[in-house]
Amino acid sequence: MSEPDYTALIEAALTAHELAYAPYSQFQVGAAVLTASGRIFRGGNLENAAYPMTVCAERVALFSAYAAGERTIVALAVVTPTAAVASPCGACRQVIFELAPQSRIILLNRAGHQRLTTPHALLPDGFGPTQLDEARAT
Ligand code: THU
Repeated sequence: MSEPDYTALIEAALTAHELAYAPYSQFQVGAAVLTASGRIFRGGNLENAAYPMTVCAERVALFSAYAAGERTIVALAVVTPTAAVASPCGACRQVIFELAPQSRIILLNRAGHQRLTTPHALLPDGFGPTQLDEARAT
């Protein structure tokens, strides 16, 4: 199956990368999500002098979409300032698994190298709402 045109989504992720607030790590990550209604939400990583308060770009973008009432994420693009295309952190994989389970994920660097993946490939055998539902049913 051919992939849809993700040009606008990738542009939004690149903008988010430029706008990221990462004064401590200097590692600016940009993310953007495309929703079923056709809207694009972007987010860059958002650091804090109290380091653990930092939120990754993927979560800023996903939370922004959900905060706007969106519930179906079609695709997620993530830009990292790395030589090789990098993959989301473990915490973000957990959040993607629940908030964007059916999404296509486009990972890319500034040079435009891309890799396509899925929530399931990033987090096989992940924990999610299904386990909570099963427990309630027993
Ligand atoms: N970061 C992200 O935004 N996404 C990831 O998937 C990995 C890491 C951010 C967190 C922190 O601001 C900086 O990159 C360095 O870890």
